[in-house]
Amino acid sequence: MKPLKIVLIGFMGCGKSSVAPLLAERLSLPLLEVDRIVIERSDYEHIPAIFEARGETGFRELEAAAALSLRDTHNAVISTGGGIIGRQENIDNLRHRGGIVVFLRTTFDEVTRRIKDFEDRPLFRDKKRAEELFGKRLPIYAQHADIIIDTDGKNPNDVCSEILAKLEALQ
Ligand code: S3P
Repeated sequence: MKPLKIVLIGFMGCGKSSVAPLLAERLSLPLLEVDRIVIERSDYEHIPAIFEARGETGFRELEAAAALSLRDTHNAVISTGGGIIGRQENIDNLRHRGGIVVFLRTTFDEVTRRIKDFEDRPLFRDKKRAEELFGKRLPIYAQHADIIIDTDGKNPNDVCSEILAKLEALQ
């Protein structure tokens, strides 16, 4: 099979972490998670601890370094954190070597319904600010996407099947 690099993007709670393992399994590809790489390369055990110790700026630096480390990866499903689109270089690195960017689009109401652990997401603790961020980011996700999947009311398996169908149409 031809190498395939799929990059999932979208706001917190859009389903990237649920869909990515299913997609990786269906395509027999390794699963890589940017947030996991960030944690592994930091001295901390979770994202909120990184935000507390290094601030959002410190987190973004680690995130950019993690995206750079995936530049030459060309055969994997890559799940990203919602803020990955904050730097163009991140998208360039993830796209490198044929990366196909898939945006899981979800309404703000649906992401607030889906997110169970607000404490784990420093940028979702204040709902009003999260909604502003959502509004700002929405067009940026769409601008970077090769494939857009609307996910409201769908389960991860349905979303995964839709991605596979759209990937086939692209080939
Ligand atoms: C962030 C999203 C989080 C995580 C960090 C920042 C963001 O990942 O990277 O808390 O800026 O939207 P998820 O999108 O997986 O929640």
